[in-house]
Amino acid sequence: MLACMPDYEHVLSTSDGPVGIVTLNRPRQLNALAGPLLREMVAALEAHDADPGLRAIVLTGGPSVFAAGADIKEMAEATPVDMLVRDTIGMWDRVKKIGKPLIAAVAGYALGGGCELAMLCDIVVAAENARFGQPEINIGLIPGAGGTQRLTRTLGKALAMDLVLTGRMLGAEEALQRGLVARVVATELIVDEAVRLGKELAKRPPISVRMAKESITRAFEGRVDDGIDLERKAFYLLFATRDAHEGMHAFIDKRQPSYEGR
Ligand code: CAA
Repeated sequence: MLACMPDYEHVLSTSDGPVGIVTLNRPRQLNALAGPLLREMVAALEAHDADPGLRAIVLTGGPSVFAAGADIKEMAEATPVDMLVRDTIGMWDRVKKIGKPLIAAVAGYALGGGCELAMLCDIVVAAENARFGQPEINIGLIPGAGGTQRLTRTLGKALAMDLVLTGRMLGAEEALQRGLVARVVATELIVDEAVRLGKELAKRPPISVRMAKESITRAFEGRVDDGIDLERKAFYLLFATRDAHEGMHAFIDKRQPSYEGR
C-alpha cells in the first residue's frame, strides 16, 4: 500500500508501510541532478528521516534510469566562483546525515553524480540493466561529489583509475562482483525488491540498525573526508579551464569536443 506525501516538482515522495520512497522524477533529462531537484530530494529524504513511522528509505529513479549525473546544462557557463557560491554539492553532506538506512534502487544509468549518489547510500540494489560510471572526463571535468574517493575505496585503485580516466561504464554483474552493489535483481522488480529489503530492515531493532550504519560508515568514510575536500575544490577549479566549457558545450551541441589543454 503506497501512501502519497507532499507534492514536489522533481521528485515523488511516497511510503509503503515502514519504508519511505523518494523517486527522482525528471525522466526526459535522465534525472540529471539539477539544483532544484537536489534541493527537493534532500528535503524529501530529511522528511522521511524525521517521520517516526518510517524505518528505512529507498532512493530510486524507477526502472528506467537512476541519474545521468549533475546537470551539464546548468553548469555549462559556470565559473569556479559560481560553483563555489552555489555549492550544490554541499547539499550532499545533508544526505550523509540521514540516520535511517538508505537503500539506492538503481536501474539504467547511474553516471557521474548519479553513481556518486548511489555510493552515498548505505546499500545499493541494482537492476540487471544498471550501468555505473564516472564519465566526467569526457566533458573536461572530474567527479566532484565523492567519486574519486568512494569509487577508489570500493573498487580499488586500478579499476577506479580505469573508470575515471576512460569514463567507461560497469554493468550490474561486474558492479556486483567488484562490491559496488550488494544485490542484482530483475529490472522490473527494482523498486519492489528495494522496498522488500527496506521492510526487512524495518523489522530489526532501529537503534542497533542506526549504530551499525554509523559504525560501518565510519570504517568506510573515516579518511575519505580530506579527499572529498580536495576533489570538490579541484572540480570547482576546473570551471576555470576552456576545456571544461568546450566539453560541456560539445555535449549540449551533440558534437565531439576538441581539447587544447587550457
Ligand atoms: N545533464 C543535463 N542533461 C542531460 C544529462 C546531464 N548530465 N544527461 C542527459 N541529459 C539530457 C540530454 O541532454 C537529452 O536532453 P535533450 O533531449 O533535451 O537533448 C536527454 O537528457 C536524453 O539524453 P541523450 O539524448 O544524451 O540520451 P542517450 O540515451 O543518447 O545517452 C547518456 C544517454 C549516455 C547517459 C548521455 O545522455 C550522457 O552521456 N549524459 C551525460 C553523462 C555525464 O557526463 N554525466 C556526468 C555529469 S558531470 C557530474 O556528474 C559531476 C559530478 O560529479 C557532480
